[in-house]
Amino acid sequence: MHNVNANGAAIPALGLGTWTLKGDHCAEMVSHALSVGYRHVDTAAAYDNETAVGSGLRASGLARSDIFVTTKVWWTDLAPADLMRSAESSLKRLGLDQVDLLLIHWPNPKIPLEGSIKALNAAKSTGLARHIGVSNFPTALLSQAIALSDAPLVANQVEYHPYLDQTKVRRACRDAGMAMVSYCPLSRGGLLFAERAVTEAAARHSKTPGQIVLRWHVQQDGVVAIPRTNRLERLAENFAIFDFALSDAEMAAISALSKANIRICDYDFSPQWDAA
Ligand SMILES: NC(=O)c1ccc[n+]([C@@H]2O[C@H](COP(=O)([O-])OP(=O)(O)OC[C@H]3O[C@@H](n4cnc5c(N)ncnc54)[C@H](OP(=O)(O)O)[C@@H]3O)[C@@H](O)[C@H]2O)c1
Repeated sequence: MHNVNANGAAIPALGLGTWTLKGDHCAEMVSHALSVGYRHVDTAAAYDNETAVGSGLRASGLARSDIFVTTKVWWTDLAPADLMRSAESSLKRLGLDQVDLLLIHWPNPKIPLEGSIKALNAAKSTGLARHIGVSNFPTALLSQAIALSDAPLVANQVEYHPYLDQTKVRRACRDAGMAMVSYCPLSRGGLLFAERAVTEAAARHSKTPGQIVLRWHVQQDGVVAIPRTNRLERLAENFAIFDFALSDAEMAAISALSKANIRICDYDFSPQWDAA
């Protein structure tokens, strides 16, 4: 696996998404993921699983410095004191002194961004977080956040998969030295895995459709993917993507699926997205 270098952070290109994983099963998934080679785990205060994620981290037996842990502050907790409290509570639940990356989970137009970004910086300068970043920030908001931040933001975590063009956000991230972390990288499976661009590449490389889609992510400059699975046996499958490469033509054929323009995570509190 390679790391994506982003403003001083080395972010492992493949991480484990943990949304919906809970309790002992979540802990087991995290420790098993680490045993098959994952070094990056993504959680959030809102996932209600940080305690279990922390148990899984400890059960792995790996040194803390070998694992990159991300958590997020929910969009209702972005007033400065709330953000700091949220970060501290996350650390308590995780059983860690510091996360590697602390993100604003979603922007909140009702809470001034300046205060939230200052608090995010305070979380970094007081050592609660090694690095800071944002999630679900379209390009205009991302520029504002970058301008407001003393410390460099290292990542913007956004929905990205072959059915959704994120060229603008990816370019904005790269221009600022940041990583773009793909959530819903598999578009939650289903139809995507039956697309010819995916199945033909899978047959050519003797890989599964899931592996082809994850390879498509990590083969793009500055992109990190955090697929989730509930199934122990799929952890190794989703990690086995660093022993082959897609051709330029295969990459282009998969990218062309973005004309479907499918956005999965779109809520009444979503920001104004960049037009495709
Ligand atoms: N920042 C945000 O606002 C935000 C929003 C959404 C998600 N996220 C993060 O991103 C992570 C990933 O996104 P996601 O969980 O929404 O979607 P995803 O990773 O695109 O898809 C997960 C789905 O794909 C299936 N799957 C996984 N590996 C597979 C494989 N090899 N073959 C076939 N199916 C496979 C899983 O089914 P099985 O469980 O049956 O394997 C699961 O139903 C989350 O867990 C979370 O950490 C962040």
